[in-house]
Amino acid sequence: MPPLPTAPHFVQLHQTDHAAVRAELAAGLQARPAHVSPKFFYDALGSRLFDAITELAEYYPTRTEAGIFAQHGADMARHVPQGAVLIDLGAGSCAKAARLFPVLRPAAYVAVDISVDYLREAMGALQQRHTGLPMLGLGMDFSAGLALPGAATDWLAGQGVERAPRCVFYPGSSIGNFNPAEALALLSQARAVCAGGGPGGGLLIGVDRVKDTAILEPAYDDPLGVTAAFNRNLLLHANALLGTDFAPARWQHVAFFNDTDSRIEMHLRADGAQTVRWPGGERHFADGERLHTENSYKWRPDSFDALLHEAGFGPAAHWTDERGWFSVFFAPA
Ligand code: AVI
Repeated sequence: MPPLPTAPHFVQLHQTDHAAVRAELAAGLQARPAHVSPKFFYDALGSRLFDAITELAEYYPTRTEAGIFAQHGADMARHVPQGAVLIDLGAGSCAKAARLFPVLRPAAYVAVDISVDYLREAMGALQQRHTGLPMLGLGMDFSAGLALPGAATDWLAGQGVERAPRCVFYPGSSIGNFNPAEALALLSQARAVCAGGGPGGGLLIGVDRVKDTAILEPAYDDPLGVTAAFNRNLLLHANALLGTDFAPARWQHVAFFNDTDSRIEMHLRADGAQTVRWPGGERHFADGERLHTENSYKWRPDSFDALLHEAGFGPAAHWTDERGWFSVFFAPA
């Protein structure tokens, strides 16, 4: 028997390649139309602004998903294996997974985020409340490819849970920030992670649904301007990373539902012609020209079910809220 864990174990795999980050940002700014990846929203202030977004009356996904887990947790427990290794993608504060511990009774908890520094505080506190539960914090950029590294499988073996079923948990409709081809690749990789454990494993995932534009658009363009600040803050983050001289006040927040592609698009629109300069480059923006910062795809349940099937999963269980705004799927591997 391995000793009862008293502290989480941490492994940091991802190391930021600063030159590659600068090259990626510069290439996106030079492109026509210009674009910047939504991953650049999340510096320290951006992460706090996102937390504030989840508190807004207009931003329904977070609380709607929480309501589905609260209402259907017992039924989910009939589908999701008990005693699984719970692998939490983009864990952040670990709060969503922690709420499932009493329902799913995991044998081990693996929290994955880009940096273990984000995980240390949350997991330290969580371990105090769940002293018998082995916990691993994994610093990894899974958006570039998801597979459990040797350090993680060794740790699982050390805890005696290498043959336990694996439940990959991906809440919050973060899958919506990938285009359908990228989402399919990530889901296929998640299936392979689940299939690497014992029988019964699968993917527990939250997905935002297509709905009335009058509900969708205010969720991404709120009257307090919190989402606008979140969007503009990306320019300050670019200034810090690449040395651009963006003046955020000269950019307008734009968010709308693109019906053809079934996605909310967020952009920043140049308020007046301006040239943005950085060490080694510059880009002129005409008045009204846009910088594309995010897509947030909205799915119909049958289309997402088909995507899960294409990724190799078996028939999924599905739960939703009374209004049918958000979906949670458990797809067996
Ligand atoms: C993190 N992600 C699921 C959010 C979304 O709804 O696409 C990011 C966000 N962008 C603007 N508001 C929230």
